[in-house]
Amino acid sequence: MLERAKRMVAPSARSAVPPFMVMDVMAAAARIEAAGGHVVHMEVGQPAASAPEVAITAARAALGSRQLGYTEALGIPTLRARIARHYAERHGLAIDPARVVVTTGSSAGFMLAFLALFEPGDRVAVAVPGYPPYRHILAALGCEPVLIETTAASRWAITPDMLIAAHRRDPLKGVLVASPANPTGTMMAAAAIESLMRAAEGEGLRFISDEIYHGLDYAFAAETAARLSDTAVVINSFSKYFCMTGWRVGWMVVPETLVRPIDRLQGNLAISVPTLSQIAAEAAFEGSDELEAVKLVYEANRGVLLDGLPKAGLDRILPVDGAFYLYADVSRFSSDSFAFAKRMLAEAHVAATPGVDFDPLNGKSFIRFCYAGSTADMHEAVARIGKWLGAQGG
Ligand SMILES: Cc1ncc(COP(=O)(O)O)c(C=O)c1O
Repeated sequence: MLERAKRMVAPSARSAVPPFMVMDVMAAAARIEAAGGHVVHMEVGQPAASAPEVAITAARAALGSRQLGYTEALGIPTLRARIARHYAERHGLAIDPARVVVTTGSSAGFMLAFLALFEPGDRVAVAVPGYPPYRHILAALGCEPVLIETTAASRWAITPDMLIAAHRRDPLKGVLVASPANPTGTMMAAAAIESLMRAAEGEGLRFISDEIYHGLDYAFAAETAARLSDTAVVINSFSKYFCMTGWRVGWMVVPETLVRPIDRLQGNLAISVPTLSQIAAEAAFEGSDELEAVKLVYEANRGVLLDGLPKAGLDRILPVDGAFYLYADVSRFSSDSFAFAKRMLAEAHVAATPGVDFDPLNGKSFIRFCYAGSTADMHEAVARIGKWLGAQGG
């Protein structure tokens, strides 16, 4: 009977997506803390700050006074209009609110975009290192992620040449880019995005731009793909700049032809995005004073790490342009970044994410630090890492 039940509930092959190795690091950090240790947490990619006060106030008011039923599948019209206005304010762009879709975080945006753009079996290019769910969601949906290895030579981004070469080897259907990117924190200059987009368009490839870290740019201003083309699918979120990870709300700007298909998909898959979160998200746009203050903390943290980590021994780091990540090459100390991260946690009590989570090709050489915590924690991390590596003769 048990055997029969096991056979009947055998999971589908498509559900066999890899887990995050960082979960092991987090569990080990929790054990250290349970034993009274103090861990500097730089492993999880989320803001330490909470949602802006205006968002919380709007949510509280809505709880007391509104029914909070379903909304339109594409989102509350005033929120869609407010998002469109955001493009006018930040980028000087006129976006038709009809092209804005509210999603359950950008995570649901990827699912909707992939379903609306691709058929099972379609091949989609993604950069490596990169955010793992891109390739895992594509695989779960029956598409084939095509990993394009990036290096310092292309500033850790896919170039037109790389894209065309992959397409010539075996035809692609689309390409996904992120700027600022996770885990590297590097950005593509506007010209780099534009030339890649033109190359994709020239070959008839769909272009998806993950802009979740927009607003968190330090080296130069982040460009939106929405300015460059109205056929690109732009994905964004309230999780990072707006400090609203747990509210699970994001958005897309999509080509006109995809609005109705995505309306149908979202209506069937989710009915609508949580109403309370949509109300809070609309208010969050008025919290920019608070949000810019949080960004200043990230900038200060970035400065502490850029100054301190090389002195502590980690001097090979990728361009720290935006988001709140720093990606460091640790191959001088270890050939296994997972083991390195585990040792750094156990011995220096600093938690970071091994690169293997983001890069099946070269991730063993890298670790990712998230600097969205306090500036005091950054100083502490630098001091601990310096002492730890120093004791190893590094
Ligand atoms: C590059 C990137 N895209 C998308 C996401 C998903 O975020 P959310 O679903 O909270 O919008 C993350 C989360 O860490 C990310 O780093």
